[in-house]
This record gives sequence, structure tokens and C-alpha cells, in this order.
Amino acid sequence: MAQNVNMFGKRSSPEPVTRRGFLQWALGTAFVATISGVVIPIIGYLWPPARRGAGGASRLLVGPAKDLPVGQAKVLPVNDKPVIVVNTAQGGIKAFSAICTHLGCVVEWHQSKQYILCPCHDGRFNAVTGAVISGPPPSALPAVRVSVENGDIYVGGA
Ligand code: FES
Repeated sequence: MAQNVNMFGKRSSPEPVTRRGFLQWALGTAFVATISGVVIPIIGYLWPPARRGAGGASRLLVGPAKDLPVGQAKVLPVNDKPVIVVNTAQGGIKAFSAICTHLGCVVEWHQSKQYILCPCHDGRFNAVTGAVISGPPPSALPAVRVSVENGDIYVGGA
């Protein structure tokens, strides 16, 4: 009878794979794969990866302050959430969450009226304070930290 030599140089005779052994191995593998497919998403749901809200710990360079003249605004994503940055005549550069506090539409800048407008239900917000001027929004737009350093505008950060 032929004998095999394993990687340690020892002779061993091969064990025949039985149908029962193969089925047990296949069922065990399928069981582990099924359990993993159920348990891993549950763990991911219960302990999601940490995400930061708008204005969280990550700081984003908006661009040179000279590119945002008084009376202009821009909406940009900060930590996956839209933020509106406005250069106001009264209060300088301000930043707010661009998610309307009514039903969550993204607000925009109303250039000629100089206020922040929610196009969904005509909600209007003060560009200096974020307070509701009119419309259905129940509360002001949350302020986001904004700073100007060496002529550049940054939003977010702790
Ligand atoms: S979602 Fe903004 S006013 Fe309704």
C-alpha cells in the first residue's frame, strides 16, 4: 500500500473521505456562512461606524474668502451633510446646516432677498442668525462653526 509523506517528512496513509464526512463538512460550512450572514449585519446595525454630523470634528476648507463676496452664499457637503456658508453684510461669514428643520429639504440662497430659502414649502431663514423668518419650519437652522484663517474659509471642526 502506498504511503504519503507529509510536509514534516512523516509517512502517513491518506484517510478516505466518506460521503458522511463530506456532507458534515458541507453542512457545517453552510451553517457558519448562514449565521455569519445574519449576525454580521445585526452587529453592524447595533454598532454602526462612528459618523460625524455637519460641523462635527472634521474641518473642511471652503475656499478663499475673496471668492465669497458679501451677499453671496454656497452650499457644500461637510461630513456628508449639506452646509450653507453665507457672507452676510451685517454679520460677516456665517454657516448653518442646509437641512430645513421642517421636513428636511436642502435650503438655498435667495440672492435678491438676502435670506436662506427652503424651496419645498417656502420656509425662510435669517442669514445672520439662522432664525425662521416665515413659513412652516419649527426652528432655526443649526449653526455650524466657521472660521477664516489666512484668507481661507473653513467650516466644521471642534
Ligand atoms: S421642508 Fe423646508 S419648509 Fe418644508
